[in-house]
Amino acid sequence: MYEEMPIGVSITRIVEETPSIRTFYFDHEISARPGQFVMVWVPGVDEIPMALSSSSSITVQKVGDATAALFAMGEGDVMGIRGPYGNGFSAGGRTLAIAGGVGATPLLPLAESGQVEVFLLGARTASEVVFADRIRRVARLMVATDDGTAGHQGFVTELVSRVDLEGFDRICVCGPEVMMAAVLRILERAGCAGRGEFSLQRYMKCGVGLCGSCCIDPHGLRVCRDGPVFPGTVLLDSEFGRYARDASGRRQRV
Ligand SMILES: Cc1cc2nc3c(=O)[nH]c(=O)nc-3n(C[C@H](O)[C@H](O)[C@H](O)COP(=O)(O)OP(=O)(O)OC[C@H]3O[C@@H](n4cnc5c(N)ncnc54)[C@H](O)[C@@H]3O)c2cc1C
Ligand code: FES
Repeated sequence: MYEEMPIGVSITRIVEETPSIRTFYFDHEISARPGQFVMVWVPGVDEIPMALSSSSSITVQKVGDATAALFAMGEGDVMGIRGPYGNGFSAGGRTLAIAGGVGATPLLPLAESGQVEVFLLGARTASEVVFADRIRRVARLMVATDDGTAGHQGFVTELVSRVDLEGFDRICVCGPEVMMAAVLRILERAGCAGRGEFSLQRYMKCGVGLCGSCCIDPHGLRVCRDGPVFPGTVLLDSEFGRYARDASGRRQRV
């Protein structure tokens, strides 16, 4: 377990999962619970939080400077990793997973450790559906795409009505916050928000609970230290689904 100091790891293999998502394998095993994350130092650019997609890989969507710099790296290049941090998903029970886009990343190790029975996976379009083959090997997979090019045409939230929520002990969710907030409303209406486990993606600086940049109102819970996974009941009546903070701490709509 590595706490505060980054270690240098070499990239051993890069897999293009979709046109916008790549998996970077590195020459180091990290022992972590599904849903825990690492801080990834991209030399000369930034340090950013990333879930582990396996004990020796991160799976990254290119959205800005640091992720673009990662995409410019090749096999043999070195990045820094510290962690694992955060709580991860709870263990045990019949589990439903719900993911949007690259949000499937922290849920993949949960599924590949045999802990997910049904996996609902959403994406914009067929070519952006990530990990489908791997998930199909270990769980019942249901896909939704916005444009209908794979699976159900519509949002992944629309698939929730096709499963019996009563049959699951926990419902583990990760994806864009608007999608997770829609799932939370569905669980609340069904009276099972407490069985929801939501993995939040917020702007982070330190990753270890010191700087306050990832706090969520109104209780000041730190996503890096108290999360990133929170029960649905904790998120009801919070800023979740309404606003988040940018790098300078300013509120922005999610
Ligand atoms: C616990 C945790 C786990 C994560 N796991 C993954 C993962 O497995 N794969 C992955 O691709 N991404 C993951 N992210 C999101 C990832 O950290 C951001 O996409 C990354 O920091 C963006 O850096 P950038 O410099 O490329 O983009 P920036 O230039 O910083 O930002 C580009 C866009 O991304 C948004 N953004 C920036 N930081 C975050 C953030 N932390 N969360 C959500 N949106 C953000 C910005 O608002 C902006 O719209 C995770 C975030 C957290 C907190
Ligand atoms: S990132 Fe610093 S407190 Fe969470």
